[in-house]
Amino acid sequence: MSNTAEIEKIALRRGFFFPSSEIYGGLSGLYDYGPLGTLMKRKWEGLWRRFFLGLDENFYEIEAADIMHEGVFIASGHLQSFVDPVVKCKKCGYAERADHILEDVLQEKFEGLSPQQLDEIIKKHNIKCPKCGGAFQEVGILNMMFPLNVGVDKPARAYLRPETAQGAYVNFRRAFEVLRKKLPLGLAIIGKAYRNEISPRNLLIRMREFTQAELQIFFNPKKIDEHPDFNEVKDYPLRIYSEEKKLKFTEELSSSQVCKEQNLPEFYVYYMAKIQQFYLDVLKIDPKKFRFRELSKEERAFYNKYHWDVELELSDGFREVGGIHYRTDHDLSGHQKVSKQDMSVFADAEKFVPHVLELSFGVDRNIFALMDLSLKKGKEGMIFAFPKIAAPYDAAVFPLVSKNGLPEKAREIFGILSGFTMLYDESGSIGRRYARQDEAGTPFCITVDHQTLEDNTVTVRDRDTTKQVRVGINELAEKISEMLSE
Ligand code: GAP
Repeated sequence: MSNTAEIEKIALRRGFFFPSSEIYGGLSGLYDYGPLGTLMKRKWEGLWRRFFLGLDENFYEIEAADIMHEGVFIASGHLQSFVDPVVKCKKCGYAERADHILEDVLQEKFEGLSPQQLDEIIKKHNIKCPKCGGAFQEVGILNMMFPLNVGVDKPARAYLRPETAQGAYVNFRRAFEVLRKKLPLGLAIIGKAYRNEISPRNLLIRMREFTQAELQIFFNPKKIDEHPDFNEVKDYPLRIYSEEKKLKFTEELSSSQVCKEQNLPEFYVYYMAKIQQFYLDVLKIDPKKFRFRELSKEERAFYNKYHWDVELELSDGFREVGGIHYRTDHDLSGHQKVSKQDMSVFADAEKFVPHVLELSFGVDRNIFALMDLSLKKGKEGMIFAFPKIAAPYDAAVFPLVSKNGLPEKAREIFGILSGFTMLYDESGSIGRRYARQDEAGTPFCITVDHQTLEDNTVTVRDRDTTKQVRVGINELAEKISEMLSE
């Protein structure tokens, strides 16, 4: 059963996220984050940054504008190809993504089919408007970008970027010049992307404004069959699934096997291994819930030669949370043509336009996935048993009672632990305070009691076991660090 309704309830009650512009009735597909959600997003982004930027000394983070020149999207192909099929009811005007309507009724996937193919299926199954039962018009297409006019006098046509990636491509020439003039070069952006989704749904899964964490790796295409550190991952078992390759179940194949049997280059597979390690080792996702899924030709984004999605198995099935995309020179050559700026570089003793491997993740979808995977029944109600490293707060500090010098001591400890993300709470019974933190997913609750004043120890309660241990205040910071990374 889907956890979505329960997640929505807790998200609203505890301040993870809310509908945006809520006091005016909200806008579909737009959400604002409250304090817990914001903390969690920053945590996830920090973990992502540390892991992926740490993979190569020539990887850097940059920041680019959300509003971009029209030329960018002529060059990238988004103006022409970033479209979704839409059907509109002849009677009530209700519009919906054509493949989603079919998915809902026929319980199959139809992504990537042409408008004509979708039309035929709608007619064959006599599918009607879910709102009023009316007939549908022919399937049309809708560009998903938000256009803007920039300036007042002679406004220039511009767009809100539909992916952060383009921000890295338009900055590539400058970055290559000011950095080490060396490939591979990685440019990462964590920032907003905007898509006028026809049918936003499932809370943070399909939004109209969302955050992406994307790393664009520019490399020499002649070196695609090698990676200097491939040996390190050659025996690492990758969890892969591909209807195209007739893998009916998720299989574990070593990185070397994936290269040989799936015909994928080492440079690509090395980064598949790193992505899987991020989910399994850093975020502590149960391996059984993780897989790479190869997209069919119809599903693949228009710019990709190889395209495997990163999927996590949530309460309602496997969901895409990221992807690894071999975009070839599609974008840089496109920008070279439209902007008339040379995108080639001199590296490895020759001049060429670099190719791009893109590691792409939706931050909000990942946050939602962690909420879904972590939702459990606790003693007092539902709790979020988040991976400890990714929970909004690292720990909470409570005085057992609000008198006898305990609040003062608890605040002192709160100060000692300022390097962690901490919460202080002295309101309500201790049981209620534990329950509140379980629901917020806080891994540890530190309680200051009368014994603390005598021997400088506190109790530390573990969210998952509810067991308490006594720890000396002097060792508390070290102990919390140790337990967070377990
Ligand atoms: N630069 C490549 C790119 O944008 P994508 O598959 O369209 O590829 C990458 O998007 C990731 O962004 C997805 O895997 C997903 O996690 C997230 N994403 C895409 N559309 C989204 C939406 N409407 N709402 C929330 N997240 C979305």
